Amino acid sequence: MAEQSTLILIKPDAVERGLIGTVLNRLENKGLTIEKMEMRTMTSELADAHYAEHVEKPFYPDLKAFMTSRPLVALIATGDEAIPAVRTIAGATDGRKAEAGTIRGDYSLSQQRNLIHASDSPESAKREIDLWFN
Ligand code: CMP
Repeated sequence: MAEQSTLILIKPDAVERGLIGTVLNRLENKGLTIEKMEMRTMTSELADAHYAEHVEKPFYPDLKAFMTSRPLVALIATGDEAIPAVRTIAGATDGRKAEAGTIRGDYSLSQQRNLIHASDSPESAKREIDLWFN
């Protein structure tokens, strides 16, 4: 048993489409515990810090504009191997290619508007939880 906590963002496209409940349902049905949750709008500074590894990439200006445009839901989910488990539930980054049965595979047809962000490693989870909740 390796209890982990992971940072999840239910992105502005999911909020706008009324999919908050759908995403939360999938996380809770899997057995994950929602530890903290907050609706807020990502600031420019938080976007640059959260996406530090992407700030130089060509798609970053569009990604930042999208992520800071409207409210999102930030939450911490906890459970056994929660970090890889949530990545599996989320599906591949590109919604057009994500497997059916995953959140992105079932509800996204976009690489950028892909409904959910989930930490990809224990180091990222610690860094992102600190950024959003401490
Ligand atoms: P996320 O898991 O939040 O991590 C980085 C985000 O950048 C990713 O989900 C997508 O929303 C976005 N992204 C990654 N690659 C691309 C790309 N090639 N074009 C546009 N957006 C991308």
